Amino acid sequence: MSLRVNALKIAPSDYLVQLRGSGIGAEIQSGGSIVLHRPAPVQILPGFAQGHVSVQDGAAQLAAPLLLSGAGSAQRLRILDACAAPGGKTGHLLELQDCEVTALEVDPVRARRIGENLQRLGLQAKVLTADANAVGDWWDGNLFDAVLLDAPCTASGITRRHPDVLWLRRIGDIAQLALQQKALLQCLWSVLKPGGRLLYCTCSIFQEEGDAQVQTFLANNNNAVLLPSPGHLMPQNGANPQLLNDNQPGDHDGFFYALFEKKSA
Ligand SMILES: C[S@@+](CC[C@H](N)C(=O)[O-])C[C@H]1O[C@@H](n2cnc3c(N)ncnc32)[C@H](O)[C@@H]1O
Repeated sequence: MSLRVNALKIAPSDYLVQLRGSGIGAEIQSGGSIVLHRPAPVQILPGFAQGHVSVQDGAAQLAAPLLLSGAGSAQRLRILDACAAPGGKTGHLLELQDCEVTALEVDPVRARRIGENLQRLGLQAKVLTADANAVGDWWDGNLFDAVLLDAPCTASGITRRHPDVLWLRRIGDIAQLALQQKALLQCLWSVLKPGGRLLYCTCSIFQEEGDAQVQTFLANNNNAVLLPSPGHLMPQNGANPQLLNDNQPGDHDGFFYALFEKKSA
């Protein structure tokens, strides 16, 4: 179980002291995420109700800093979090930078959880319930400085924590989800301003939901530049030595990240 420490409230090293003082064994990973030695109910985590920490895997914690890196901080950024529920990455963006976030989610029940999570963290976003593909239904016509597309996917990267995923998936899911991802990526590119950045990610280890999407997108959009990105991360148990040289260190799920910049005309 991994925690994200809210930079607005407390430093990871100070939070680690609090955890250990409460008898909860934990370690800090490079990047500042905290891994508990044993999973614990959130109610016993110090400061959880006050928004000092959130439960979030180490690989998922790369999203917000990646999107904000180089995005500039001179003006208050307008950011679209296009597939936002339950709001893990929305909250992280707002913890790291004072920005204006629109959090979009197609499922109304899941959309309510964005508001609940932000309330606990003491943060605010404009939460909209809509299908990101139906741009005319939710977009006000002002281009975004940055877009986060944490796309619906097979979740093949999180099976170490959610083994039920293996039983719930069907053979046709990869192709069907890949089509949805492709459509969302193309559609959301149109609401990004020239010079802006779009971060595409999935918690999947499949090429069809990662590198293959990137290659198709670059072939279809000559105004897209792929910036240095983590690419495919393989799931890894922090207790074991790093098995793949180019994998992110520490304990984390499988994930895919590609950061695009839109060329100015
Ligand atoms: C991987 S989850 C997002 C996790 C979230 N970013 C976080 O960090 O907490 C993908 C979400 O996208 C939503 N979704 C799927 N298709 C969508 C669409 N067309 N428009 C908006 N949201 C969509 C799903 O309901 C789901 O909540």
